[in-house]
Amino acid sequence: MDNMLNIALPKGRLGEKAYALFERSGFECPSIKENNRKLIFENEDCGVRYFWVKPSDVSIYVERGAADIGVVGKDILLEYEPDVYELLDLRMGKCRMAVAAKKDFHDDRRRTLTVATKFSHIAQTYYAALGRDIDIIHLNGSIELAPILGLSDVIVDIVETGTTLKENDLLPMETIVPISARLIANKAAFKFKNAQIETIAKRMQALLEE
Ligand code: PRP
Repeated sequence: MDNMLNIALPKGRLGEKAYALFERSGFECPSIKENNRKLIFENEDCGVRYFWVKPSDVSIYVERGAADIGVVGKDILLEYEPDVYELLDLRMGKCRMAVAAKKDFHDDRRRTLTVATKFSHIAQTYYAALGRDIDIIHLNGSIELAPILGLSDVIVDIVETGTTLKENDLLPMETIVPISARLIANKAAFKFKNAQIETIAKRMQALLEE
């Protein structure tokens, strides 16, 4: 391995916002703004190499050391519990994990509740703490369809603006946990590339507190 710091960014709007923070922290990589389909960009002068990763895969790259640090939603950290260090709350990508149901849904606590979700572990943990029996239906997307089509009683999903729920006639019932993007580090890299990683984290923190 070289001495470059490998940084996994989530592809999409959050990743672009996160990159802007790296740039303002002094770790710019101008080639990343070229409009092409390349996935890896580096700037040897700053010692950084960025790559675009599917958002839910960032923690896999970081946990296994293919990336030294990365930006990932707290939802993914709670769901998969990767063995990484969580260094900083980046206060972006803010949303919440919530339970939602059809407007006319009435909960009967004597019945097993069917819960459709992409976040099975988060849902299990939440309902276990409430002592509620549930049946999880794991889906990979468009979760809002499940209660509408009678596949589940409720959903556990991310709510950002609330538009998706509203446009599908669903109501948020409870908030499970607030979510935001986090800076994470591979545990070995945090030791061996500590100076670089600490510099980035400290500069970012200062910028976030401005
Ligand atoms: C997420 C989430 C909701 C939507 C919430 O979906 O699963 O569907 O965003 O945002 P809103 O409250 O601002 O409407 P995403 O775009 O990640 O797609 P998917 O879950 O259907 O794959």
